[in-house]
Amino acid sequence: MSRLIVISNRVSVPKAAGAAGAQGGLAVALNSALREHRGIWFGWSGQETEEFNGHLNMQRIDDVTTATIDLEPQDIDEYYNGYANRTLWPLFHYRIDLTEYDRNFGEGYERVNARFADSVLPLIEPDDLVWVHDYHLLPLGSMLRQKGVKNRIGLFLHTPWPPARLLVSLPFHERLVGSMLEYDVIGFQTEEWLGSFLHYVEKEMGLSVNKDGTIDYDGRRIVARAFPIGIDYEEFVEGAESAEALEAYEHLKASVRGRKVMIGVDRLDYSKGLGERFESFGRFLGDYTDLASKVVLLQIAPPSRGDVASYQQIREDLERKTGHINGAHADVAFVPIRYVNRGYPRRQLAGFYRAADIGLVTPLRDGMNLVAKEYVAAQNPEYPGVLVLSQFAGAALQLTDALLVNPHSIEDVSEAIKRALDMPLAERRSRHEKLLASVRDEDVVFWRDEFVKALFGEGTSGTSPQKE
Ligand code: ADP
Ligand code: G6P
Repeated sequence: MSRLIVISNRVSVPKAAGAAGAQGGLAVALNSALREHRGIWFGWSGQETEEFNGHLNMQRIDDVTTATIDLEPQDIDEYYNGYANRTLWPLFHYRIDLTEYDRNFGEGYERVNARFADSVLPLIEPDDLVWVHDYHLLPLGSMLRQKGVKNRIGLFLHTPWPPARLLVSLPFHERLVGSMLEYDVIGFQTEEWLGSFLHYVEKEMGLSVNKDGTIDYDGRRIVARAFPIGIDYEEFVEGAESAEALEAYEHLKASVRGRKVMIGVDRLDYSKGLGERFESFGRFLGDYTDLASKVVLLQIAPPSRGDVASYQQIREDLERKTGHINGAHADVAFVPIRYVNRGYPRRQLAGFYRAADIGLVTPLRDGMNLVAKEYVAAQNPEYPGVLVLSQFAGAALQLTDALLVNPHSIEDVSEAIKRALDMPLAERRSRHEKLLASVRDEDVVFWRDEFVKALFGEGTSGTSPQKE
């Protein structure tokens, strides 16, 4: 079996099972993938150093070997806070209104990608498969090629890919996408993002895409395909049945004293549609006054990317909205929104999901959204809760038995909450059974195996592993 060299911006291994660690789909998925596979996880330590020195900090945590580098403050500013999170993240989530273009960001992005390439180079052995992740590192493959790496190199993008009409607003977009053609495999979360990418490649680069989705370029065949990511189903279900989960479940249930619970779990990110979600909940409370004291929304939202202004803004917006809605609908012994800005150990989180009658997952745009899948996996199959899911999350293509909503429509979401509360048990069970089958069958192991097979060069037909 070939070794895997996984490269991502963030390397985040929880120190002990059950500890609060990685938040964010990428870290959670890669932890699961790497525990199974011999290999190394390389990336940024999250620390800064005065002057970049390329020093590799190697560690073994549980079964995962990590190798990290520190970055300079200017790198972090221009590459992480800059090009990655002020330029590409908003653009890839269709928010050109928030997208900032700054020459220094672009230069910092390329500089840090080159630093990644130099630093990881000595770790790569001839038979290794190299698997690069996410929008922080799109040109890394081409930089490794320039340094003579002949290994199979793949890229998986955890975010959406924007329509060509939006992408062309990015200065030097041709250079960025052109650099991606050095990968052997380019993976997307869904057929939709894949379609946007292939459309760009045909329209803007004048390349032809073969019927099976492969692209012939420079004497090589590139596989571009959808590989929908999943959760570590076994681990999650086991966690949901643990003592820690049960304790969290009982604690939450006791605290709401018979009220129905809705849960949201999201990084504090404008792509998650939190403001719209709160407004929808406020509308529900206003429209169904007889139910207003019978429901609670628990929103867990750990702060994210706090050095970026748009993230500070969303945080302030939510604090205002929470205050406003609670002010309007609270009573002396009751507050409708419980808004919590912290991370929880995964088992505790699983207990909270299980205690919730409704999972509210309403991003305005999301590559996949693992929270939706975790919510389904954590339910008691006898008395499952109802998943209310945005039609704009990648997960909506698989979880078609959720109540799919338009998160921009306050009415639509408010009515879906009502429908979920009224849903008869038989319907809840039959929907949940189908959702669970999807979450169980297309889990993180399935995702990893499909990608690694494609990277290895097997089954390069280009057909998607997604179910009809
Ligand atoms: P994104 O990758 O954009 O953050 P996802 O929904 O795909 O969104 O993944 C988020 C992951 O982070 C999930 O596995 C979720 O359980 C985890 N997570 C989010 N918030 C918390 C929190 N407060 N405590 C623990 N884990 C969290
Ligand atoms: C999303 C991105 C990941 C990122 C995560 C957390 O899942 O796709 O690449 O790691 O969010 O964001 P952060 O900026 O804290 O790494």
